[in-house]
Parts: sequence; structure tokens; C-alpha cells
Amino acid sequence: MAPATDDDLAALAALRAEVEACTLCDLHATRTMAVPGEGDPASDLMFVGEAPGYHEDQQGRPFVGQAGKLLEQLLASIGLTREQVFIANVLKSRPPNNRDPRPEEIVACQPYLWRQIELIKPKVICTLGNHATKLLTGNPAGITRVHGRPQAMEVNGVGLYLYPIFHPAAALYTPAMLTTLKEDFLRLPELLAHEAPGDEASPPPAASTAAPPSAPNALPSAPTDAPPSAPDSPTSAPDAPPAAPGSPPAKPEQLGLF
Ligand code: URA
Repeated sequence: MAPATDDDLAALAALRAEVEACTLCDLHATRTMAVPGEGDPASDLMFVGEAPGYHEDQQGRPFVGQAGKLLEQLLASIGLTREQVFIANVLKSRPPNNRDPRPEEIVACQPYLWRQIELIKPKVICTLGNHATKLLTGNPAGITRVHGRPQAMEVNGVGLYLYPIFHPAAALYTPAMLTTLKEDFLRLPELLAHEAPGDEASPPPAASTAAPPSAPNALPSAPTDAPPSAPDSPTSAPDAPPAAPGSPPAKPEQLGLF
């Protein structure tokens, strides 16, 4: 873990102020507080959730409700605290009544997340649930299909492992999902111990890199894989925004790490 430079810290603080003043989408009119994200700016591990809920909107902090408590328990299971990781969301403002993020909201907010990744330079990004996973992979494959399998990719010049897992809010109500989430979480230390993609002396067996969604407006296309019996989203509504014109072909490939 490289220490954050003074320039990076200043840039993150400026980004935070920008998010707090953001009026790029309609959510600014209904939010109480923006939720830019928080944690160790030099952490190797970053979490990306969907959007602030009620408590996050009240406090201006990510994952402070029931889902946050579960996330903290999961972190404790691998010997970490929330202060040792960086926690952010796809959307920085709460959608009214916790509805799913809209495509235009994701487009408006995406540059903030991309910039956070560029400044924090995590080795592993854990995407929590469908929205974050589809945005970061640029692929419509849902979380039920891709959870627990690391993908090597590059975001804004940062080589990293993307590690999709179920959203804690979904796991709170589905015991089988909670079991899987705990199992996937326990594999994080092994992934964190690995060299970052691009830094390895030799690539891991069967490793390959995914085409990154590097264009700021790259969006996943419509979902194709949600099985009726296992919803992919913490909320059950169909959720993937339509593909943005000019999206790069998304071909995430799995690593043979686990
Ligand atoms: N769910 C999310 O996706 N993000 C939060 O910050 C809280 C709950």
C-alpha cells in the first residue's frame, strides 16, 4: 500500500467538495446530504455500493445503516475495520424511496467514481451487487453469475482486480446469499496478497485482463441473466441502464485465481 501523496489528498478533498455541491442530476433536489465516500485514501481495498439509503443521506456517510453493520462484520471476519478501506457508491446522492439508480444519474455520477479510483489506486475493488458490478465491468452479466470471481482490469490507468460480491442489503434478507457473501469475503485476503495486475513478475495462471470501461460514459447494456428465483439486485426491479452510444465492447474475462 503506497501512502497517498499530498497532491492526491488535496485532489480527493476537492472532489469531495465538488460532490457535495453537485447539481448534475435531479437527485440534488431531494437529497439531504451528498455521500462522497470515506475511508483510507491509500487503502488497497475499495468497496463500491449502489447508492446512499435513508441513513446515509441523513449523515453524509456511506453504509451506516443495517447493510453497513453487516459490511463491518464481514470486514472484521478478515481482520479489517471500515477505517482501513475506502467505501464509495455508484451514486453519491440518495434516489427517493431507495428506487433503482436511473441511467442518466449513473452517467452524471460516474466521473466522480472514476476519479476516486484514479486517486486511491486500489489493488482490489469489491463491487457490491448488480449496479456497481455492471458499471465497473461494462458487462450486463449479473452478480449471481459473476460473484466471487476476480477479474483483472484497468480503470483510468489503474490496474486492479475487480471482485464482485453480493450486496449486503440483499444478503440481510436471504440466508443463502449471506452464506455465499461470507464465503466470497473470506477469499479477499488471498486476492489482496497478490500483486496488482500489471505489477506481477509473471501473470497468474489463466489470468487475462478485461477490456475496461474506460470511457466516462460507458454503461452496461440491459441485463440478460437474472434468474427468476435469484434476483441480482438488492432491490428486485430490473436495473441495468441501456448501453450508452459508443460504449466499448465489454469482454470481462475471469482469472484462474480461485
Ligand atoms: N447501500 C448502498 O449501496 N450504499 C450505501 O451507502 C448504503 C446502502
